[in-house]
Amino acid sequence: MLSDVTIRYGRLTAVRNVSLSLAEGEILFVTGPNGAGKSSLLRAIAGVTPPAGGRVDFADHDVTGRAPEDIARLGLSMVPEGREVFGSLTTEENLLVGTGMHAKERNWRARVASALEEVYETFPVLKERRHGQAGLLSGGQQQMLVIGRALMTNPRLVAIDEPSLGLAPNVIDLVYERLIALRAQRALTLLIVEQSSTRAMMAGGRMILMRGGEVLLDGDARAMGQSEAMQAAYFGYGEQA
Ligand SMILES: Nc1ncnc2c1ncn2[C@@H]1O[C@H](COP(=O)(O)OP(=O)(O)OP(=O)(O)O)[C@@H](O)[C@H]1O
Ligand SMILES: [Mg+2]
Repeated sequence: MLSDVTIRYGRLTAVRNVSLSLAEGEILFVTGPNGAGKSSLLRAIAGVTPPAGGRVDFADHDVTGRAPEDIARLGLSMVPEGREVFGSLTTEENLLVGTGMHAKERNWRARVASALEEVYETFPVLKERRHGQAGLLSGGQQQMLVIGRALMTNPRLVAIDEPSLGLAPNVIDLVYERLIALRAQRALTLLIVEQSSTRAMMAGGRMILMRGGEVLLDGDARAMGQSEAMQAAYFGYGEQA
């Protein structure tokens, strides 16, 4: 999915020669300290930040330099850092916002309706507030909304930047339960930036640890979470100031 990808902002190199492959149905957690390049990596995959070097592949296409909408149409749903809800639209309108891109496909209406029901089942509060203004939802409810919205288009890959942020622990559990169930049901691939390696260990799957724009470790989430190398790398022992 990524080959030798480098991302720069001016003179700053945020991601350095990273290669990463992701199997269908896999769950990959991206952990690492602040500024490690995790969000940049996600934005490169989604086409939001075109890489300065290297190649991005998705769904059997070379998507390097392609527009985010094109990549989304191939089946990538990305939930960026920070909640981007359309505050003046209703909750339901927010959920429907991205679905138009598949409007020409067969059974589109029925599929949208059942996707909506699924989201409402997962997050009943969104159903209660479906006709209310999304901008008036609480922070956690808005987070549920953006995650729900990402699931509306029947994606192959959902890339989420820090789903736990601002959510109560029981809601985080709910979000993970739902994502993991979806993954099992329809071979959904998940790429999740998660500060908490404990959370990644609980969910299982694969984990990479990034620091300074590089991937330092890549392995089984449960095994890695417990390793000393992980602790050392995460907390930056031996790091120059
Ligand atoms: N739009 C931007 N312009 C300039 N520099 C940026 C931009 N976005 C990120 N950076 C820099 O790139 C580096 C990597 O940032 P990134 O947001 O990818 O890190 P992160 O691992 O997601 O961190 P966090 O855990 O704090 O979200 C940081 O040094 C950051 O300051
Ligand atoms: Mg980030």
